[in-house]
Amino acid sequence: MQGPKRIAIDGPAGSGKSTVGEQLARQLGYLYCDTGAMYRAVAWLALREGADLHDGPTLGRLAQQADIVISRPQVADGRQYTVTVRHRDITWDIRNVAVTRAVSIVSSHPEVRSVLIAQQRAMAQQISVVMVGRDIGAVVLPDAELKIYLTASLQERARRRYAEMKERMGEHNPALSTLTDVTSDIQRRDEIDRDNMRPARDAIVVETDNRSISQVLDIVCQYVEEKKHEA
Ligand code: DC
Repeated sequence: MQGPKRIAIDGPAGSGKSTVGEQLARQLGYLYCDTGAMYRAVAWLALREGADLHDGPTLGRLAQQADIVISRPQVADGRQYTVTVRHRDITWDIRNVAVTRAVSIVSSHPEVRSVLIAQQRAMAQQISVVMVGRDIGAVVLPDAELKIYLTASLQERARRRYAEMKERMGEHNPALSTLTDVTSDIQRRDEIDRDNMRPARDAIVVETDNRSISQVLDIVCQYVEEKKHEA
């Protein structure tokens, strides 16, 4: 029995989609593709080249020439995958505050989206993949065999993001934001990202409030099993 070859997981910031997606891909032996990392890679390149973040055509060209590659991690430093732009490893650079601020604007340009969407589709044609993002089930892979949409309340998403930052930076780090700041940051990103958030009509919605990652993963794995039997 064959499992679904293309699994789309969409959801807002902090819904748990990256953690669930990465663990699911590992279990199935599929490539994990975090499409947010591709938008971040273009934002990183735009900042580095001093491009105007509001100039869609220029950013579209940058995306085309960026040569973004997402691959399985070869370095054991806690990364989920390796991202390179023109052969340069930028896996950690794309997580910085400047990139996080710029990426919502960069990803709003249709010129950037069309380039990255074409690359994402090409990737899914070559290899079995768990692809994570905002518009995967509806736009990038409308024929994906399994589509999941993860949701969580704003408070829960902010709480998770804050706990993650505390864990990574240390509780007494003066650079650590407050929970209130993290909440307004996520809320601001939700507003900017709203136009690109496209839950597919045929996606299975999984509520993640009050559920641990492993509980959410179990639910998703059950749907993978069901798809195997349907096939
Ligand atoms: O999931 P993330 O925070 O790494 O995503 C970074 C940005 O990219 C975020 O502003 C939403 C955007 N994005 C998008 O518009 N479409 C996707 N498929 C994935 C991410």
